[in-house]
Amino acid sequence: MDPARLNINDQAVEFPVLVGTEKEVGFDILKLRGSTGAITLDPGFANTGSCESTITYIDGEAGILRYRGFSIEDLATHSTFVDVAYLLINGQLPTRPLFDKFNQDLTHHSLLHEDMKKFFEGYPQNAPPMSVLSTIVSSLSAFYPGSEKGEDFDVNITRLLAKLKTIAAFSYKKSIGQPYVYPRNDLGYAADFLHMMFAVPSEPYEPNDLLVKTLDMLLILHADHEQNCSTSTVRMVGSSGADLFTSISAGISALSGPLHGGANTAVIEMLEMIRADGGDFSKYVNKAKDKNDPFRLMGFGHRVYKNFDPRARVIKKIADEVLGQLGINDPLLDLAKQLERIALEDEYFVDRGLYPNVDFYSGILYRAMGIPTNMFTVMFALGRLPGWIAQWVEMKNDPATRIYRPRQIYMGENLRPYVQIGHRTK
Ligand code: ACO
Repeated sequence: MDPARLNINDQAVEFPVLVGTEKEVGFDILKLRGSTGAITLDPGFANTGSCESTITYIDGEAGILRYRGFSIEDLATHSTFVDVAYLLINGQLPTRPLFDKFNQDLTHHSLLHEDMKKFFEGYPQNAPPMSVLSTIVSSLSAFYPGSEKGEDFDVNITRLLAKLKTIAAFSYKKSIGQPYVYPRNDLGYAADFLHMMFAVPSEPYEPNDLLVKTLDMLLILHADHEQNCSTSTVRMVGSSGADLFTSISAGISALSGPLHGGANTAVIEMLEMIRADGGDFSKYVNKAKDKNDPFRLMGFGHRVYKNFDPRARVIKKIADEVLGQLGINDPLLDLAKQLERIALEDEYFVDRGLYPNVDFYSGILYRAMGIPTNMFTVMFALGRLPGWIAQWVEMKNDPATRIYRPRQIYMGENLRPYVQIGHRTK
């Protein structure tokens, strides 16, 4: 493709054009500042590619999401979370022996160092589980310092994947004052997590197959989403040379915000508020449209999708099936569907391409599984972990990686003389 041309201050500059495997076009401005002195201004990086990547492909206009070339619908229907984690990190689906080895490693690394339990004890009981998750993951680097490549590093990847579900479940047990439940080696990834969440010493607990399957699928749907806010954070922190655990801990913090992963919690809070207010959807749709009102329809809209988020489509379908099979009649599901219908017919939402995103229906499924609202974003982090790891590794192995360091346009004061204010003397 011809180079892109820019005229600035009577100077014509050319930039090489890059075309991705799905025909996405970008021009490479690496030499922009060196040759013109100018920079680009792109708040929120909506038009800025920060890297080349082979992990995830999204076409936001067509509502397409693929991990390593496989469609999200196929993976959600036919694969398992452990297969998908392997796929994201290694680039290929595992053969049977590779799967068995990976699965066994994930099982055998799931215990937490007993000393780490003391950290949980130090938190107040009402500590938000996302804060606990982020800080405990960060402290893993104190327990498992190591190299950034080779076998030690591979073990650290396995440790992180295996232990995050234990940390997540312990943070829940801590929040309700129950004893921690240790992982069971005879259970798969999702089943073991449910066991650590819901088992109590006084009675036996066997994870329900439907819940295990549903959780596994939800984890797959969240496993990666290219250069979103938390993933970019993971790459940014890692670009300074910080280790894997520290970088992922920063990603967990970024995910916690209500405009990102925290939206799944905010959706349920919003639906409960609408219900308590008599179920008047139009009032809330109007509030969301009012530019003087900070209220937004949570779970609606996306930086990249200007069409239905394919993950929301899958979740909406299984929410009906799973709640039906569990015999649960959740009024919030009906409310969510009605709200969606009204919003999708409204010109404001249509014109802006605002559709339900992954968070709109996921909370309803988590509720049906007995997972409390304050754990929803932790569930997102559990799912997103393989994606963060894959993106961190890709960033490390890419010779083009430089420390992330955007520029700015300074709009402050020019140089001015120092004048003391008031009577204060040095
Ligand atoms: N409700 C009402 N209006 C909205 C909403 C919403 N949920 N989302 C976007 N808009 C409007 C904006 O006001 C803006 O209108 P304008 O052009 O008249 O000014 C327009 O749509 C574009 O929105 P931006 O905020 O510029 O879009 P951006 O890409 O920066 O933000 C975001 C995307 C953060 C997801 C936004 O849609 C939002 O806040 N949604 C609600 C929170 C949410 O569900 N977050 C989860 C996202 S998915 C994820 O992270 C897993």
